[in-house]
Amino acid sequence: MNPILFTKIMFILSINFSYTKSNSLEFLNLRNTDPSIIEDATLDTFTLIKKYGYPCEIHRVYTEDKYVLEMHRIPYGKENSIKGTRPVVFLQHGLLSSSAEFVLMRPDKGLAYLLAEAGYDVWMGNARGNTYSRKHVSLKTTSSSFWKFSWHEIGYYDLPAMIDYVIKETGVEKMQYIAFSQGTTAFWVMTSMRPEYNEKFTAMHAMAPIAYVGNIRSPVIRAVAPFTNSLETILKLIGANEILPNGNLNKLAGEKLCIEEASTQSLCTNLLFLFCGFDVEQLNKTMLPVVMGHTPAGASTRQFIHFGQLYKSGKFSYFDHGWWANRRTYGSFRPPAYNISTIKVPIFLHYADNDWLSTPKDVDRLFKELKSVVGKYRVPLDNFNHLDFVFANDAKKLIYDRIIRIMAQFL
Ligand SMILES: *[C@@H]1O[C@H](CO)[C@@H](O)[C@H](O)[C@H]1NC(C)=O
Ligand SMILES: *[C@@H]1O[C@H](CO)[C@@H](O)[C@H](O)[C@H]1NC(C)=O
Repeated sequence: MNPILFTKIMFILSINFSYTKSNSLEFLNLRNTDPSIIEDATLDTFTLIKKYGYPCEIHRVYTEDKYVLEMHRIPYGKENSIKGTRPVVFLQHGLLSSSAEFVLMRPDKGLAYLLAEAGYDVWMGNARGNTYSRKHVSLKTTSSSFWKFSWHEIGYYDLPAMIDYVIKETGVEKMQYIAFSQGTTAFWVMTSMRPEYNEKFTAMHAMAPIAYVGNIRSPVIRAVAPFTNSLETILKLIGANEILPNGNLNKLAGEKLCIEEASTQSLCTNLLFLFCGFDVEQLNKTMLPVVMGHTPAGASTRQFIHFGQLYKSGKFSYFDHGWWANRRTYGSFRPPAYNISTIKVPIFLHYADNDWLSTPKDVDRLFKELKSVVGKYRVPLDNFNHLDFVFANDAKKLIYDRIIRIMAQFL
């Protein structure tokens, strides 16, 4: 690989991606854009939900290791506004994203709204480090200690703290869990490492599940993953905790990695699309500024490094700190694997053939190792890609309607 390109990609990965509306939006030509779209791009999750006439609450949760997380709740719907005790569903977003993921596509398409209308009390989590969960009792986001976490900590600390909070607040004993991508990874961590959490869910619905990633097809990830080990060293040398994506990144992305038609060029300036690819047919270009306004929503470099390690090792293992630190931390030179065969929650896996990150082969392996999978469903559309699970024009018809039908059996 060309060393300059390599350095640049390293630089991309060394960014603790930060939320900057103007940064993503300035590359889109917004002059002829509907003002309501621009407004959606800039409102936060709470205000966005309110704008569409839905009730919304903000809840603050403290984790055991003292991160402060913000959850968003849609307690009931607009049409279906029966209050009282509703069954609870918990939604967890993917990498570089936030609770906004489930409402960006507006009430007729956003999963959170559809669930509220289907009778659920909808809670949406936000993982540490994203737009809404950038606080800690004593650490500042400018300190590198703040960013010393991967999705392991999201599964081990954030999810349990949020789930416990929801149970306390609503009085329910069990709930259903729906997640996209990294939101599923964190769930495997929680339920394999903290067995008592298996008792708190009646069912789990995984959209584009991620555990094994050896067969990832994303060109950017395949190019960078082999260098995962050197990455932390480079990070320390740079000494950077948070750098904003700059012009070079966008230029690189635009020139080298995107050869699509002009109207989708701007996609390539967004890291989310850079990693996941996109499906031109299922992406509503009118809504693009909204997606760009809300992502990337912040992640630590360790989240990427940890995924890179999984890609290299072909295993679903704890974070690899290097031989001696592993020995100190885990008592073995190699990081142990998560024992996902111990998970007991009834699971439904939803995957797609053209998904670059959650590939059918890797999902199949996960399916075989989990002991509690009840259903495994392929999305019936050949070109359906990773982000389509949350942003596709037809996501409701192709996936959400089915999930909501399945959920009715677990009340
Ligand atoms: C795209 O989004 C706009 C604005 O929300 C909407 O009016 C239009 O119907 C959408 N198109 C499709 C194909 O879903
Ligand atoms: C994983 O858990 C199962 C069930 O508890 C146990 O039988 C098996 O030995 C465990 N595997 C490892 C590698 O620890």
